[in-house]
Amino acid sequence: MTLPKVYVGIPIQEVGLKLLRGNVDFKVLEKNGVPPRDELLRDLRDVEGLLGSIPIRVDAELFDAAPKLRVVSNYAVGYDNIDVPEATKRGICITNTPDVLTPATADLAFSLILASARRLIEANAFLRSGDWKVWGPELLVGQEVAGSTIGIIGMGNIGQAVAKRARGFDMKVLYFSRSRCPEAESTLDAKYVPLVELLRESDFVSLHCPLTESTRGLIGAKELRSMKKTAILINTARGPLVDPQALYTACAEGWIWGAGLDVFVKEPVPLDEPLLKLVNVTTFPHIGSASRIARDGMAIRSAENLLSVLQGKKPRDLVNKEVWK
Ligand code: GLV
Repeated sequence: MTLPKVYVGIPIQEVGLKLLRGNVDFKVLEKNGVPPRDELLRDLRDVEGLLGSIPIRVDAELFDAAPKLRVVSNYAVGYDNIDVPEATKRGICITNTPDVLTPATADLAFSLILASARRLIEANAFLRSGDWKVWGPELLVGQEVAGSTIGIIGMGNIGQAVAKRARGFDMKVLYFSRSRCPEAESTLDAKYVPLVELLRESDFVSLHCPLTESTRGLIGAKELRSMKKTAILINTARGPLVDPQALYTACAEGWIWGAGLDVFVKEPVPLDEPLLKLVNVTTFPHIGSASRIARDGMAIRSAENLLSVLQGKKPRDLVNKEVWK
């Protein structure tokens, strides 16, 4: 029996590769990095499945190069790297990896909240530079997290997990989302408010919505100007949700108190990005889901989704449900 050909364009964990062995004939990218485009397209000529992730742009050009493709399994919950309508037109299944990374990503968002508010990265650098000569009442004073108000934009799984953590810190939870979330309202006492009100009232504004054409640039100069001067913007979702020039000005000129960012418009972020020069901007290299449990879970889930389609079974995490007839 000939096995379906698959290209694994990201070096996923062994727990995922183990599931593929014996079920598909696969080639895996050995090292982190983006395969050169022409090489990638060549490797896709005969494949029925692609397991990819954020760095691989999946569009009409790629589909043209892979005429036998039946499934693109994304090793990520977000799938803005994929032209889903184009895939749907061609009957190609798109899958993602929700749930398994929810706790890790919410933990990371909360780490950014605490790190930004309490100036933790700055404090660590200060101590190690030898500048700590004397303790003083105003040394590295930041913002209080406990009892403050958080505004969550996007109340999906990750937004709800952040709200849950916030309630543990006695925070008041406001949210704005595409649709109401009755569960968060009843169990977490989260209050649905219009975006303008959320921006005006929150001490922390945390983004948890997908990147789409309607959310691109959601936070620009007007929104940043409407926030409190003591507020902090947290982004663990996608860089292009925020206008980086406007955020730079807002943080440099004190329209807001600071920002905590795990994601950027261009990744890896170039070292000449102006935001990296600001001490009140805390930055991480897109590590939201980087816990052992989450990453192993993503490897398993993405392998299972891929195999399901190739074995004729409806995958658990089908994004474009219309293709499954
Ligand atoms: C990571 O950013 C993801 O979408 O899983």
